[in-house]
Amino acid sequence: MPPGVRPPRPPLEPPRESQPRKGGTTAGEGQEGGFPPERGFMCGIVGYIGFRNATDVLIDGLRRLEYRGYDSAGVAVKTPQGLRVVKRSGKLSALEAALKEEKLEGPLGIGHTRWATHGAPTDPNAHPHTTEDGRIAVIHNGIIENYLELKEALKARGHRFSSDTDSEVLAHLIEEKYRGDLFEALREALKEVRGAYAVVAVHQDHEEIVAARTVSPLVVGLGEGEHFLASDVPALLPYTRKVIFLHDGDVARITREGVEIKDLSGNPLFREAVEVDWSLEAAEKGGFPHYMLKEIYEQPWVLENTLGGRLVEEEGDVDLGLELDPLEVDRVHVVACGTAAYAGLYGKYLLEALARVPVEWDVASEYRYRDPVVDERTLAIAISQSGETIDTLEGLREARRRGARTLGVVNAKGSSLTREVEAVLYIHAGPEIGVASTKAYMAMLAAMAMLALRFGRARGTLGKEEAQALIRELKKLPRLVEEVLEKRPLIAHIAEKYHQAQDFLFLGRHVQVPTAYEGALKLKEISYIHAEAYPAGEMKHGPIALIDEHLPVVVLATQGPLYEKTLANIQEVRARGGKVIAIATEGDEEIRKLAQDVLYVPQVHPLLAPMVSVVPLQLLAYEVAVLLGRDVDQPRNLAKSVTVE
Ligand code: F6R
Repeated sequence: MPPGVRPPRPPLEPPRESQPRKGGTTAGEGQEGGFPPERGFMCGIVGYIGFRNATDVLIDGLRRLEYRGYDSAGVAVKTPQGLRVVKRSGKLSALEAALKEEKLEGPLGIGHTRWATHGAPTDPNAHPHTTEDGRIAVIHNGIIENYLELKEALKARGHRFSSDTDSEVLAHLIEEKYRGDLFEALREALKEVRGAYAVVAVHQDHEEIVAARTVSPLVVGLGEGEHFLASDVPALLPYTRKVIFLHDGDVARITREGVEIKDLSGNPLFREAVEVDWSLEAAEKGGFPHYMLKEIYEQPWVLENTLGGRLVEEEGDVDLGLELDPLEVDRVHVVACGTAAYAGLYGKYLLEALARVPVEWDVASEYRYRDPVVDERTLAIAISQSGETIDTLEGLREARRRGARTLGVVNAKGSSLTREVEAVLYIHAGPEIGVASTKAYMAMLAAMAMLALRFGRARGTLGKEEAQALIRELKKLPRLVEEVLEKRPLIAHIAEKYHQAQDFLFLGRHVQVPTAYEGALKLKEISYIHAEAYPAGEMKHGPIALIDEHLPVVVLATQGPLYEKTLANIQEVRARGGKVIAIATEGDEEIRKLAQDVLYVPQVHPLLAPMVSVVPLQLLAYEVAVLLGRDVDQPRNLAKSVTVE
């Protein structure tokens, strides 16, 4: 934790439960069309070697990774009878039931939750995959791009395959390379593999786990006489906080005694162990019915964490500890995806308003291919909760190749993005487990506001007094967000009124345009209701045709220079019979005459209004999703981080 940052508060009292669920589907249903490969990537990995019963550690760890989404699960454990595998399609409970029948006991094992890409979610396609003789077992996250070619060649050499997956080629390839040293066999096998992977292997004759990563994350957990491996930190927290984040191209041998790491060419590497400050409690639900709700309620202290120790009111400045000199920057390119991209759009408005620096904003998947004009006085800012989103990483790399300076605005410590940028601005949101991002968005907004303030001060475009006024307003935010959270009963009531709608429209102007985008994204992600967002002034250029008495229109109508213009848009909606849900500033009585429903948010500086305004939109999406019986934390087709293009 940086100096001055307060520790997280004790868990909030769980608020009242929402209305009972009605109808609707839950995630996992209606997916028979198959998963688009670009989303089916975030499987879970756990490995254990030590003195405990590996099966228990593996199941416990996989459960902590459930938020990543999966459709089958399996374990391989080295038992006194040899290496044994149990795997099942469906949820972990199906695997646990199978493990009651066939008990696997032993102090070494690997476990996996798979989200189908190559091959349907069946028992044979679940991981681990083994060689024909069952002596080697492998689990894999990612995609082996040249697997067809490898598979054909392996088959021609006599290997028999028992699944449709790309991953199984790894087991056979390792077997071919095996000359008594599993680590070397893995290293040799990977030389023939193209693609993205976190791969873990065990051999019946070895007291070790070997692992390697390229693109897909892998973390080694360090214990006393025991070691762990996982695709994400929450799986390790009950056992250890001391971890090594493997880097792209690392190959590791994990024994009870220690960890050996080499690069793919066999050169020894030293990777520093770090202490993660996430408590287990922080990574679990803390009494809330869903992670997403817990994370929405954590936003006041998240703001304190993000802002804490960085605001220097006396000087009218912020201390971000960045080496980067804003005077060396002539223009900024912001690249990110999804929610993080909307935080970036907010950053564009603020950087331009406060620092008068031209900002281009792109979703990363466009930026990386649009041949951007970049020079050495361009600062590329990549924003990411996970720090592993491949499009964001590639967008950043593209800018860097063209000579840009680079800054990462990131939540996950030690993630790939943090290692590839010149400077990192951590947002300190803590672990975000709900697939739909909420608290990370809040922290990103605060980080971008601070960055704009710093740039404005350094570039002389923002006066000390104006900066001090903004800082005072920033300091109020945690309390103001708390006030908004108290409105949940009213928001639940509004959700009840509109949850049967087929479509929603979200409108906002200026800094509230990203809020509108984010509100629509949250609603569609977790409720599966179609929602669109537009800058309010753009409505009459097309979307106005949609408006009738069945369309709820959420309008961000907080006080600010464009308030009157937004009111005019509300009138246009009303004139066509549309239903307006207004997010307005407390004390605005006028708006009651125009909108069917008003959700008041506290008065704050207009540039900071998005931080208080996004909260009712998050809660609205949440309440609607719960009413429709959706799987809030693991919405269908979505994964927490998207590490493939
Ligand atoms: C939305 C959501 C996604 C992510 C996006 C980027 O709720 O979670 O849109 O924001 O995939 O992820 P990160 O921030 O990890 O790069």
